[in-house]
Amino acid sequence: MSLTSINTSTRKLKAGGRISGIVRVPGDKSISHRALLFGAIAEGETTIEGLLPAEDPISTASCLRLMGVRISPISQGEVVHVEGVGLEGLEEPKEVLNCGNSGTTMRLILGLLVGRQGKHFVLTGDKSLSKRPMQRVGQPLKLMGAQVRGRANGNLAPLSVYGQQLRGAVIGTPIASAQVKSAILLAALTAEGPTTVIEPAHSRDHSERMLKAFGANLHIGGEMGRHINVMPGANLKSQKIVVPGDISSAAFWLVAAAITPGSQITVKNVGLNPTRTGVLEVMKEMEVDFEILNKQDIAGEPVGDIKVTYGNQLKPFKIDAEIIPRLVDEVPILTVAALFCNGDSQISGASELRVKETDRLAVMARQLKLMGANIEEHSDGLTIHGDNSLRGASLDSETDHRVAMSLAIAALLAKDDSKLARSEAAAVSYPDFWNDLERLQN
Ligand code: S3P
Repeated sequence: MSLTSINTSTRKLKAGGRISGIVRVPGDKSISHRALLFGAIAEGETTIEGLLPAEDPISTASCLRLMGVRISPISQGEVVHVEGVGLEGLEEPKEVLNCGNSGTTMRLILGLLVGRQGKHFVLTGDKSLSKRPMQRVGQPLKLMGAQVRGRANGNLAPLSVYGQQLRGAVIGTPIASAQVKSAILLAALTAEGPTTVIEPAHSRDHSERMLKAFGANLHIGGEMGRHINVMPGANLKSQKIVVPGDISSAAFWLVAAAITPGSQITVKNVGLNPTRTGVLEVMKEMEVDFEILNKQDIAGEPVGDIKVTYGNQLKPFKIDAEIIPRLVDEVPILTVAALFCNGDSQISGASELRVKETDRLAVMARQLKLMGANIEEHSDGLTIHGDNSLRGASLDSETDHRVAMSLAIAALLAKDDSKLARSEAAAVSYPDFWNDLERLQN
């Protein structure tokens, strides 16, 4: 056994061994949230196979239940049933909607609620979520007539929404954020007149794909397909959704196998939506030995298995603003990968990382330096000197799920064992991560 629990949250991380075997990562988090939200406002019963049974989607489901949506229990391996209440059917909740740690829950639900005329909603979240900027959603929604109030001039939770009749608008979003875009698309469904969202760069497009499948009147056009137009009025029809494995969870194993001598891993059934596969582009640049097998389309999303074999002499890489939307959640694990490249890697254009569950640039630099890593932090990125030698250390996830899992992979490569405080954070997106690590590290 390679992992031992020291107490409920601090874990011993054993150094050494290789990563080998076959793993199925849990369902895609972004797709899971959307399946619940769109299913809730559709007509009829939506079934969701492979929904991620983790804390974030569970937060979305609990908020929806408080507004009268019946959702069957969410647990590993169970198909989830959502009894849609229709576009206008959400009830005014008697309690505060608690979004937990989940930015996607809070931002998408804001878009869902602003058009519920005459109804009042209060949204809150945990310590981390209460520090994250919400005006990026509140501001564009105000252009449609929304009333959103909160601390710090409407920027911070707790937030309150008083539902209004919205009007369609043409909205250019200043940042490429799928959460902002999706909130506007949700609001657009009940607005008067059409809405167009214009993104500065192409963020993940799960909302567009799934809203179309549910029957929304949504069209994509403009230069590089970045203008998304919604005509209100179309009722959504329930769907049978199959959620692919999350490439953001797969990334931990892909990188682990690429940098750990003697490793070979196959991650099965991974979502390969091109708006999410930036990590594979970087792996190509690093000259990682990998192949994609069994590529197919399932329920409107491309999926496949990814097989990675260890090879020494990985090349350093450069990531800039252009690719960030396609790998925004993979920057922590790619920072670990860079430590094992043959030269200096550069991450820039990544200031969005500072407003994730934690300031991921600062936290990754701080934690990896405890292991002796040579990293320089910049306002919008990191320079990582690849030199291949880490020592064991007392680490801390600082409550961030992706930091917890990235540090666990770094610890495999250290000269001696490490400890990780607040390791339970992994359950936000990957509840079985520690069991999978125990099984695959051998
Ligand atoms: C998400 C979008 C991304 C991503 C987050 C999930 C989504 O955030 O980091 O984990 O499901 O829409 P931004 O929209 O802020 O880039």
